[in-house]
Amino acid sequence: MERTGRRLGREEAAAGGCGSWRCRSGAWRVVLLLYWLALRGLVHLSFQRLVQSARGPKEFSAPRARAYLENITAIGPRAVGSPENEVFTVNYLLEQVKAIERESSRAHNISVDVQRPTGTFSLDFLGGFTSYYDNITNVVVKLEPRSGAEHAVLSNCHFDSVTNTLGASDDAVSCSVMLEILHALSKSSEPLKHAVIFLFNGAEESILQASHGFITQHHWAKSVRAFVNLEAAGVGGKELVFQTGPENPWLVYAYISAAKHPFGCIMAQEVFQSGIIPAETDFRIYRDFGNIPGIDLAFIENGYIYHTKFDTADRILTDSIQRAGDNILGVLKYLATSDKLARSHEYRHGNVVFFDIFGMFVLAYPARVGAILNYTITALAILYLGKKILQPRKRALMYIKELAIAFGFTVLSWFAALLGILFVAIFISLIGRSLSWYTHFYVSVFLYGTAALAKLILVHTLAKTFYYKHTNEQFLAEIFFDVPLVFWSISLASLTYLGVSSAFVCAIWVAFPLLTKLITYKELKEKGATMKFFTMYLLGMSIPHVYSLYLNWIIFEMFVPIMGRSGSEIPPDLIVAAFIVVISIILSSYLVKFIYLARSTKTIIITLTTVSVIMFTLVCSGVFFPYSSDAANPRPKRIFLQHLNRRFHSLDGHLEKSDSGIWINGLDYAGMSHITPHIPELNDSIRTKCDEDSPLCGLPWILPVDYLLRKNWYLPAPAIAPKEPIRFQLLSKKQMPQGSTKLTFEASGPSHMSLFLRPHQGSTLFRWSLGDGTPMVNAIDGDYFVFYSHGLLALPWQFWIELKVSDENTRGMVTLAIVTHYLFGDDQKSPQLHALIDRFPNWTFPSGWVSTYDQFVF
Ligand SMILES: *[C@@H]1O[C@H](CO)[C@@H](O)[C@H](O)[C@H]1NC(C)=O
Repeated sequence: MERTGRRLGREEAAAGGCGSWRCRSGAWRVVLLLYWLALRGLVHLSFQRLVQSARGPKEFSAPRARAYLENITAIGPRAVGSPENEVFTVNYLLEQVKAIERESSRAHNISVDVQRPTGTFSLDFLGGFTSYYDNITNVVVKLEPRSGAEHAVLSNCHFDSVTNTLGASDDAVSCSVMLEILHALSKSSEPLKHAVIFLFNGAEESILQASHGFITQHHWAKSVRAFVNLEAAGVGGKELVFQTGPENPWLVYAYISAAKHPFGCIMAQEVFQSGIIPAETDFRIYRDFGNIPGIDLAFIENGYIYHTKFDTADRILTDSIQRAGDNILGVLKYLATSDKLARSHEYRHGNVVFFDIFGMFVLAYPARVGAILNYTITALAILYLGKKILQPRKRALMYIKELAIAFGFTVLSWFAALLGILFVAIFISLIGRSLSWYTHFYVSVFLYGTAALAKLILVHTLAKTFYYKHTNEQFLAEIFFDVPLVFWSISLASLTYLGVSSAFVCAIWVAFPLLTKLITYKELKEKGATMKFFTMYLLGMSIPHVYSLYLNWIIFEMFVPIMGRSGSEIPPDLIVAAFIVVISIILSSYLVKFIYLARSTKTIIITLTTVSVIMFTLVCSGVFFPYSSDAANPRPKRIFLQHLNRRFHSLDGHLEKSDSGIWINGLDYAGMSHITPHIPELNDSIRTKCDEDSPLCGLPWILPVDYLLRKNWYLPAPAIAPKEPIRFQLLSKKQMPQGSTKLTFEASGPSHMSLFLRPHQGSTLFRWSLGDGTPMVNAIDGDYFVFYSHGLLALPWQFWIELKVSDENTRGMVTLAIVTHYLFGDDQKSPQLHALIDRFPNWTFPSGWVSTYDQFVF
């Protein structure tokens, strides 16, 4: 490197006769490239490190946990209401707990309770919906000191799985880890201070019902002071603490001091709680209905196969189980012996800023300290900038003017990059080549990243050539250091003011550059922009750079897989491209000044543009297929297929129309475009239209996500005849004293049903027997969505709704649809559904079941 630099320098000196650093443009490019490769390598290494666990004798035995995992997944898919879930898994868990109890030390008492709760609640999630559950299952195990305990810490996992999947990572592995923790704790002769309640909940995938049943109804729930929830958003890998609280800073400190390999970041919490990831966990239920603080952990790696048939036990490394086990055992033991647990209300105030340093350890400090730190760093930046403003008036004014202009060029470069790249992303989406980076992530970097950088450099090069033609380059270097400093300082101060804890990232981007500036000041002043200066500068900047790269890595690890199930409406290329532009802007912020120091940026612009154009051509020609059937690393396309009967009844009870077919949803933006070549009849001639007169478009949604999946397909097929058909009837219609009408209904059918309601013009739904009594409308589509599920056996579901009619409508008061989902057993699949699913290519995950949709008007 040094040699190349010198040689290039000599050549250039010979050619142009200048000897300064800026002439060695080849050398600085090489240094910059090596620098980025080193940073990327470092980030990569820190991820590798995470998966390995230390050897030696262990309290927590991962092989034993693995055996539990394999036995649970061997039972098969475990949908709520199926014998697999309600009987076989429950029996298996009870047997294991019995066996553990037999071996347990005399220091503890183990009690077991199988709870079968029935209840209802509304949740402001996916626009808002109401849930009703009947006779679902919780296996609750309490480990406490012989003398009993007043307070408890709760550990939660769920053993049910999404239909057609084995749910190894989501969430059988967590239940296996909990069984093994129970085993380890019960064998120890050290008594605990508090109880540990292990909740193996049997209905999480039916939108968090079992945790609600436990926390609102179980007689042990009142003793719970804190909880640890074990979830999955991926398969295997490491578990990330992605939310804690609310408040209760002592929990974060407990996790940090007790977990052997802590891993978590407040930024994940702030992103998750902003709601941009359409997901919720039992954390929400414990927080909102139990008023209990806790820690939410999830496996985040390989989200591509989360909720697919590829979520199998063999894809989870034993090391990964060991890691999770060591961490959670440590935390539970710590909490169960902590003085703070019993008096948690005394410690509940305050927030913590926490983040891990390359997965090695977690830094945490009170949010108040964080705010002071952030304001101090802002003050230092103001001090630095203030020195320039406190010059003679004329020079100060000139400086401010130049700073404003430079800021303008910078913002211009951001917009140019963003607009240019989004334009490309839209084009790629329109021609049907979106998601080209889904399997090969580097495609997005070479396509959007290079173009974004080229754009950024180009705008500054133009500014340099036309506007700054006669400006001293030292001055330019100064100004273009101050611009990002001002930007990051403003961001830091305003985010801190708004109480955003993620502001610590901005603090890094102010503190380290200032420090770098201080260190390199002398070199620059005395010798100018030498290679030594350049290297020192990069080294100083390496901390913010490597940390931001690391964070981006985690963000991409979580977000890219979500693009495979983000629906048909939001072009994922737009999101990924925007992300990449923002990251390019962040990472290059303090490097822009070198554009002004370098003699020429032609080569770099040409190189970047060439790479981008080549990538663009390749992407447009369809070289990069989004999905992969690679057995070791599948990236399947997700498709839902529902063999469906629909019946629409009129106000007088007549069957107005009916049809049947297979209703198909591709969960990503690509729709059926890649499927049609394999199954020609799945083409746009069979696209469904929204039935505007029916709630939720007259289609049997399992979740209220019709706004995400506007494009779907409906292939005609013969009617289905489930063995356990739905029975639905109006039991009574009563005029109420205040002039309202109360309708009471009864439905009996399979384990999963949904109720959609749309009051007609002139009528309002103002009371019902569901949720907290006040109907919750879905804010996105304006209809009411009630999710119902029941365990193995349940009485018919009775509910009532009460409508106020202000204006008599000839078309009735309300349209009601009752939907069924046959998610397991003989009724789940029809021969036609089987035949169609068999024709799907091996890079897909087609998940099928039978549904019905019956609509009535009252
Ligand atoms: C599109 O689908 C329809 C019905 O499924 C079928 O009749 C037609 O042949 C298909 N078109 C093509 C071009 O395959």
